[in-house]
Amino acid sequence: MKIPYIPEDAPFNGEQKFWLAGFLAGLHSRLLVLEDKPQSGTNTGAAATTQLHILFGSQTGNAEALAQSAAKAAREQGLVPVVQGLGEVDIDVFSTMRHVLIVTSTYGEGEMPDNAELFWHALSASTAPRLEQMHFAVLAIGDTGYDGFCQAGKFFDMRLEQLGAKRLCDRIDCDIDYEDPANSWIKSAMPQFASSAGSTGMVLENRPEKPIIPGSNKNNPYAAALITNKRLSGEGSGKDIRHFEFDLTDSGLQYEAGDALGVIPVNDADLVDLLLAQLKADYQSPVPGFERSLGDLLTHQFEISEPSRKLIAWVGENTTNEELLHVLQHDDKDALNTWLWGKDTLDLLQLELTHTPTVTEFISLLRPLQHRAYSISSSSKAHPNQVHLTVASVRYHCNGRERGGVCSTYLAERVGRGEKPAIFISPNKAFRVPTNPDAPLIMIGPGTGIAPFRAFLQERQATGASGKNWLFFGDQHQEQDFIYQDELTGWQESGLLTRLDLAFSRDQEDKIYVQNRMKEQGAELFAWLQAGAHFYVCGDASRMAKDVDHALYDIVAQFGDMSAERAADYIDQLKKEKRYLRDVY
Ligand SMILES: Cc1cc2nc3c(=O)[nH]c(=O)nc-3n(C[C@H](O)[C@H](O)[C@H](O)COP(=O)(O)OP(=O)(O)OC[C@H]3O[C@@H](n4cnc5c(N)ncnc54)[C@H](O)[C@@H]3O)c2cc1C
Ligand SMILES: NC(=O)c1ccc[n+]([C@@H]2O[C@H](COP(=O)([O-])OP(=O)(O)OC[C@H]3O[C@@H](n4cnc5c(N)ncnc54)[C@H](OP(=O)(O)O)[C@@H]3O)[C@@H](O)[C@H]2O)c1
Ligand SMILES: Cc1cc2nc3c(=O)[nH]c(=O)nc-3n(C[C@H](O)[C@H](O)[C@H](O)COP(=O)(O)O)c2cc1C
Repeated sequence: MKIPYIPEDAPFNGEQKFWLAGFLAGLHSRLLVLEDKPQSGTNTGAAATTQLHILFGSQTGNAEALAQSAAKAAREQGLVPVVQGLGEVDIDVFSTMRHVLIVTSTYGEGEMPDNAELFWHALSASTAPRLEQMHFAVLAIGDTGYDGFCQAGKFFDMRLEQLGAKRLCDRIDCDIDYEDPANSWIKSAMPQFASSAGSTGMVLENRPEKPIIPGSNKNNPYAAALITNKRLSGEGSGKDIRHFEFDLTDSGLQYEAGDALGVIPVNDADLVDLLLAQLKADYQSPVPGFERSLGDLLTHQFEISEPSRKLIAWVGENTTNEELLHVLQHDDKDALNTWLWGKDTLDLLQLELTHTPTVTEFISLLRPLQHRAYSISSSSKAHPNQVHLTVASVRYHCNGRERGGVCSTYLAERVGRGEKPAIFISPNKAFRVPTNPDAPLIMIGPGTGIAPFRAFLQERQATGASGKNWLFFGDQHQEQDFIYQDELTGWQESGLLTRLDLAFSRDQEDKIYVQNRMKEQGAELFAWLQAGAHFYVCGDASRMAKDVDHALYDIVAQFGDMSAERAADYIDQLKKEKRYLRDVY
């Protein structure tokens, strides 16, 4: 296959900014070994040649956890693993590496995770060094529900080959259930690295395995009592944002402000019944190859709301519905997305079909039910036995039926008395309060984006951090949607919250958004940045976070009296110093 040349600016255009959530300032020739320091005493003489650099690009920790698994497998092959975030890797140092495994997720719309963006910028530049001495492999994780499936991994794989590096084994692209395929790929890749690196086979001792406690990952969830389910939005609000509290007493679970909580939902029983009726099957119908009944599978094991690509393709081949056939024939993704907007699996089964799929066929067309992530809105220092969430219920009407988001409405209305939802902590080590307690904080968190900042403020209060705190918050209407108003105004009065700027978008004719407030306060905001403030953004990725990013560039250029280029450098530096961090979805 001919690999196309990647020009400096491609494939990420100016819109897709080059992020660097992990590039340490001034780190040019120094390797930073995270967690997996090569073990001393054994094999040190061979370390230079048997070093395997395991570099991860990760937004929410999955790829980072896989990088740690790969390090363990590497030690078992006598290799000396060095695990680093891609944001911490200098391109010149990278060019000296001999054996490299890149483990990366993909974010946004086929984009790099934040901590890999600036590294990718350097690697895809026309000035990137040649890498003839390097042997590499790429492990990509992603989600086939997105158009750019595992795109970041594909780009790395292609670019490394283009720069002359030698691929030791074929890239693997893993879907949402990535653990098993990724780990077996790692198992088969490591001997190839070991043999290429000339490993003596002297096995380095792995640290003793920590016992896995329930709730520490998605395969070992913890059943937590939901002790509070409180509507935060006013009665007249167009939204239904809720505050949830789970009891963690005696769970042994720990989390940090900035982490997310995974919640494994249960599907809506009414939708399951409608699907069973459509399939002309009973709840208890057996499904060949599965121990659970059909009803159980539809309730607990498969996504039955958002149609999978496989189901759409199957329906496309077995329907006479002209609208869908027209959309599919033109292979127009936007038109297909518009046609699909709001439709669920039942809508697809209710189209004119040449035949109804058999139960086995239908099950084979569904995706496994996925957990949903929620930014934790409490600090464990303030609430040692609890974890809090701030969740907007997804609700809409389509084709004469009320629809609900699987997980948000499960939490809001379907958790039965005594039922304990399955949860797990999903660490996000990149999104933390500054270690320096004096550093000022600027937090942009409209809507549910306030969640981690409630946690940050609780954390700063609990630790007595003296740095100033500035929150930009907003939603549709002040009267109905000023969630956590009492807490926030209380923190203003106590002095914890130095500034609170509010943007209620629909209280006047023209929309006012958080970025408008930022610009109004541009001089002050820039002064805070100059004084070392850390800038955080949380909430909607598709529009808000992009517009806030643009506003930040404008503010830096205007109030720092800089050209667009210098403003971009200034913001890149913030990213390098981990002072511009995002938790967007
Ligand atoms: C790291 C991270 C942190 C997050 N933190 C939070 C948080 O703190 N709070 C929070 O509320 N959410 C948060 N989310 C989002 C959350 O994970 C879920 O995506 C969200 O709750 C929706 O899940 P659901 O199961 O309720 O809806 P789903 O069943 O997944 O349905 C969502 C889908 O419904 C469809 N849809 C939605 N609205 C409409 C409409 N009006 N018309 C037609 N179709 C529509 C769309 O196809 C949409 O993709 C976070 C996400 C991530 C990745
Ligand atoms: N990826 C996922 O799985 C997923 C799932 C659920 C939700 N989401 C996203 O998460 C977001 C969070 O929802 P939410 O209920 O917390 O709040 P939200 O919808 O983001 O709304 C919060 C406030 O932001 C405003 N806003 C709209 N566009 C904006 C922009 N371009 N710049 C700045 N502010 C803007 C809204 O104003 P107006 O509404 O008046 O315009 C509102 O006042 C949703 O927008 C959705 O896109 C993603
Ligand atoms: C907002 C969002 C956007 C995503 N975009 C993509 C995408 O474009 N392509 C893809 O393959 N996966 C995409 N994913 C899936 C992630 O890559 C996947 O969940 C991965 O396991 C995350 O790993 P991480 O925790 O290491 O970042 C997206 C996930 C989220 C939450």
